[in-house]
Amino acid sequence: MGVERDVAYVWAYRAAAEREARVRFTRLSERLGEIQASSEVIDLAARASEDEVRHERICSEIAVCFGGPPVAQERAEVPEVAPARFSLADRVLYEVVGFSCIVETLNASLMTATLEVARDPRIRSVVREILRDEVGHSRFGWAHLAWSRARGEGAFLSGALPRMLEGAAKEELFLPDEADPGGRLVELGNLPRSQRLAVFRESLESVLFPGFEALGVATTPARTWLADLLRQSTSEPKSPITAPRSGPSA
Ligand SMILES: [Fe+2]
Ligand SMILES: [Fe+2]
Repeated sequence: MGVERDVAYVWAYRAAAEREARVRFTRLSERLGEIQASSEVIDLAARASEDEVRHERICSEIAVCFGGPPVAQERAEVPEVAPARFSLADRVLYEVVGFSCIVETLNASLMTATLEVARDPRIRSVVREILRDEVGHSRFGWAHLAWSRARGEGAFLSGALPRMLEGAAKEELFLPDEADPGGRLVELGNLPRSQRLAVFRESLESVLFPGFEALGVATTPARTWLADLLRQSTSEPKSPITAPRSGPSA
């Protein structure tokens, strides 16, 4: 029963993250309209918000399926993460980069790695559905970043990336790591922390950093942050850390 409980916990956690993502995309789609972003990007944000409603539901269903309580449907309060002194366009860009370019890309990488090992058909079906949509959500972020960079915006991003990554790392990396005798948790799609860290690193080094650099966003501070994280993760005991849910913070 312990394994089932751990699986239920992770999917309830994801359901809450999907709810926050829905609120964030709804707010972004309105603000992208206010700053007269490209109509394609505004439509993508609105569609992403609808996707996240579905993701929250299917994540909750998996949590319940593995014995978790029904996930409360209360309205999520999702604070803004960009510095309040920024212009609206910069606050929107900060949030789009932190959540769409970074969190959605990392989530897609994690879902891809999960599909490679998960054997349970219920988990595989949900992961496949979420993966398909999250790839689109990250493309939305990159499209808006490219549009903003072409207009000479986003000079703050290079210095802000470490804080964004710090928030994103909390999303999945620091979920508690449970003992997994017999590999049952992995069969059910719960990757061990060491593997989540490897996916995180690979995604940063092969997708995110090159993507930012191609758009003229220097990644030296972000690469230094990653090197520090990797150093800490090999020198610190692997005690489970129950991080509070928070995204890339300002
Ligand atoms: Fe989602
Ligand atoms: Fe998403």
